[in-house]
Formats: sequence, C-alpha cells, structure tokens
Amino acid sequence: MFRLVICVSGGGTNLQHIIDRIGDGTVRNVRVVRVISNNAGAYALERAKKAEIEAVCVSPKAYETRERFNEALLSAVREPEPDLIVLAGFLVAIPPEMIRAFPNRIINIHPSLIPSFCGRGFYGLRVHEKALERGVRVTGATVHFVDEGMDSGPILLQKAVEVREHDTPELLQRRVMEEAEWILLSRAIALIAEGRVRIENGRALIADEEAGRADGEPAPAPGDGRTAGRRQ
Ligand code: GRF
Repeated sequence: MFRLVICVSGGGTNLQHIIDRIGDGTVRNVRVVRVISNNAGAYALERAKKAEIEAVCVSPKAYETRERFNEALLSAVREPEPDLIVLAGFLVAIPPEMIRAFPNRIINIHPSLIPSFCGRGFYGLRVHEKALERGVRVTGATVHFVDEGMDSGPILLQKAVEVREHDTPELLQRRVMEEAEWILLSRAIALIAEGRVRIENGRALIADEEAGRADGEPAPAPGDGRTAGRRQ
C-alpha cells in the first residue's frame, strides 16, 4: 500500500475527494494513514474521523517557539512513514527541514495556474480576488511538488477554469474547486502512487505522456531513485 499523510487547515473538501476516490476504487493501492491539521477546529479533522483515519492536531499555539512547532510537525508527519505528503489546503509555511526530509515527496494544490497569482500572500480567497481584479478570462488550479521556494516546485498537473462576468471571489473559488482542485489532486496521487512521475531538471515528467513523445521509450521503473514519492 502507498501511504499518504494529508495536511489540512480548513473545511477539507479536497481531503474528502481523496477519501472518496480511494473509496470508489478510482485511486488504487493507496491508504491515508494520518490527517494532520494545524487548527483544532478544522472540519477536515471530522471528515478524517468519519472515514476512520487517524486525525491529529499540531497547533502552533501549543508550542513556545516556531522551532518547537516545526519539530512537532515534522515528527507527526514522519511517524506514520508516509510515501507521500499531500498539502490539501494547509495554511502553514512548510519548514525547510521537512522539505529536505521528503525530497519530491510533498505535493501541494494551489488555486491558480502557477506562475500566476502565487507566492507570498496568495492563499485562500485572495488568489481569486486578485484574479478578478486583474480581469483574467481563465484561471484554474495547479498541483506541484514542494521545494524550498514559495509555489516554485515542479508542476505536475494543471487545469484551466473559465472566469465568468459576474463572478465574485467566492463563486470563482467554488468553481475552481469543483472543476479543477478536486479532480487534480486525486489524479496526481494516483500517478505518483503508480510510479509514473519522475523529476528531471526541475520538471515533473509523467511516464505515458513521455513515452508518447519519445518513440515508445519504456517508462522508468518505479524505485529507480528518481521516481517521485518513493522512499529512498
Ligand atoms: C482550497 O481552495 C485550496 O486550494 C486552498 O484552500 C482551500 C482548501 O479547501 N489552498 P478545503 O479545505 O480542501 O475545502
């Protein structure tokens, strides 16, 4: 079984979609071994419990310093020995120690087409407010690997979503979730769990797409050392 730890901060609709896609067999051989929230009141924790998944809160409020919180977060992530860590609406800056401990094994969903509307300060509704302010006709969502920069890691999947004339940030946020985020995140997990993703020169390559381009060159074997989401 491919083991996931999912980090959340809020309502957990992305988490729910992952649970449902595992439940209905769309995503196979994958198990969510722990859900971690930085926020004790996050409804995502309830969703985890309902699905009989271990739900843990690691709140910065419970620690005297940011360093202690970072250590606690890293242990909470490490302990269930995940193959992949999924940030599904996790509003915490990931400590560099965690990124170094899990190279190419952390993915994030961002509610825009990176590199638009991303980086410092672009989270939650603000992303959609800025997209509407700029008047873009198309926005979307991106699943990317997490590196030490802000929203700067290799891009795995993106999906465009139309902006409509009378959109509010709330309407647009909802459409981006329904038409892009919920679909992309479980697809990304399936691809990684199947060993079809590898990182080369800062880009995420997907095995079948690559084979299509490269004259039937065989897909890389899982565990060849470069495959994303594999313990090294
Ligand atoms: C999503 O819009 C996600 O892109 C953003 O936070 C929201 C999380 O929603 N970073 P949920 O908690 O999965 O419902």
